[in-house]
This record gives sequence, C-alpha cells and structure tokens, in this order.
Amino acid sequence: MDLKSEINTNKLPKHLAIIMDGNGRWAKQKGMLRAIGHENGTKSVRQVVEGCAELGIENLTLFAFSTENWNRPKLEVQTLMKLLVSSLKKEIKTLQDNNIRLMAIGNLDNLPKKAFKELSEVIDRTKDNNRMVLTLALSYGSREELINTVKKISIKVKNNIISPENIDESVINKHLYTQNLHDVDLLIRTSGEQRISNFLLWQIAYAELYFTDVLWPDFTKQHLYEAIIEYQKRERRFGKTSEQIN
Ligand code: IPE
Ligand code: IPE
Ligand code: MG
Repeated sequence: MDLKSEINTNKLPKHLAIIMDGNGRWAKQKGMLRAIGHENGTKSVRQVVEGCAELGIENLTLFAFSTENWNRPKLEVQTLMKLLVSSLKKEIKTLQDNNIRLMAIGNLDNLPKKAFKELSEVIDRTKDNNRMVLTLALSYGSREELINTVKKISIKVKNNIISPENIDESVINKHLYTQNLHDVDLLIRTSGEQRISNFLLWQIAYAELYFTDVLWPDFTKQHLYEAIIEYQKRERRFGKTSEQIN
C-alpha cells in the first residue's frame, strides 16, 4: 500500500519536529557498539529530510544533541561530533539538490571548533535555499534557550529598546533560537520513550505528539508517512469546541 498517496498535502504540518531516539538500543540489540547505531541513524535523517521536502513541509527540526548529552562518556560525545562533521560534508549536496536551507539552534559556542566551522559553512552555503528549512538542534536545551531569551529581552528593556508592557508572545518568539520558524504542529519521538527531554518547550505548546516504538535507525519514509496520516486524523481544537471547528 502506498501510504504517501493517503496524505492530504493541503493539511501538512508546517513545522515537524523529531526527537531522534534509540540509536544506542538499536546497536545493543545487534550486539554492536553504540557508535554504529549513531552511524545508522544518519540514514534515517536522510530519509526524513528527503521525505519532508518532497511532501512540501516548510520546517523540519531534528533534535540531534542535547545540552544534557554533554554528560555522556567522552568517547561517545567525540564520536557524535565527528559524525556531525562527516554528515555535513556528505549531505551538503543533498541539501543543495533539494533546495533545502540548513539552520541550527542551541548553544553552538559549545561545539568543537571543527564542527562549528563546518556547520557555519553549510548554513552559509544554503542560506538562499527556500524549499524547506531544516534546523538541527545541537547542544540544545529548551531551558537554556529560555534563559538566553530572558537575558536578551532584559538587556533591551534595560536599554529602553523594549518596554515591559509590550512584551508579548511575538516578542518572546523573536528572541528564541527558533525565531523565524512556525510553532511546532507535530512532534515525533521514536524508541518508545514518552517524554520531551527538554526539547522546544515553548514551541510545542499546541503540538500534536506522536510516539512510536520504532528505533531511530529503523525509521523510514514510510514511518514518517504513518505519523503524518495519524496527525491528519486528529482534530486540533485549540481550546474551542468541536462544533466551532467544523
Ligand atoms: C539518540 O539515540 C541519539 C542521541 C541522543 C544523540 P540514543 O543515543 O539516545 O539511543 P538510546 O536512547 O540510548 O537507545
Ligand atoms: C533526547 O534523547 C536528545 C536527542 C534525541 C538528541 P536522550 O536519549 O538524550 O533523552 P533521554 O535521556 O532519554 O531523556
Ligand atoms: Mg536516548
């Protein structure tokens, strides 16, 4: 059955965010090193990026490395950073061919110099692409983002650029790392865990949540389509009654 044909392209989520989880368990099940799980996870990244661009999704945000992930064993952190550099080098062509713009959110100053440099280069080279914005959340934590946002706004208040009475949702949105992105419509988490793990707390206020047991390296375009089909069956009421929506 072709799941793609079941998707209503007029009702796509504008912003899809994914917590790509389960690489370690995938490898463990196969008696392999965690690093192999992360490597195989990059194949799923490509599937999902292509799948979203083909469908016409405007914003795709992938949780690739959290502020908390810095506490993993040093070797695993190094492996993930190396993988980031090699993936960026390899995937720049896919991004250009598909007219996809790369962006990044998070405390990017914490990235190793090499990773930061490679990332900045790809961001710069794809800045005029306009089919889809692919955002990598790297060294990202929602609380860190909110602290950073409060600081930026406070400085503007102190310098009389913003008056406290005028602080509203749009002011906060403009000072988040995700400033120009839509609110998240659909959040997918793989691997069976049902938690947010400090991801986009403000931005998912009204997102539909979708949890699947599939481990990230096993996640394919078909799984993406399943999630979108499920999303399209839901009634998003935003506090209103069903009758008001229909
Ligand atoms: C997701 O897979 C990748 C990152 C968090 C960087 P995990 O490495 O968390 O895999 P599990 O959860 O241990 O299986
Ligand atoms: C969340 O996964 C972070 C990423 C997917 C990058 P984790 O595996 O780090 O989250 P927890 O520890 O299960 O909450
Ligand atoms: Mg995990």
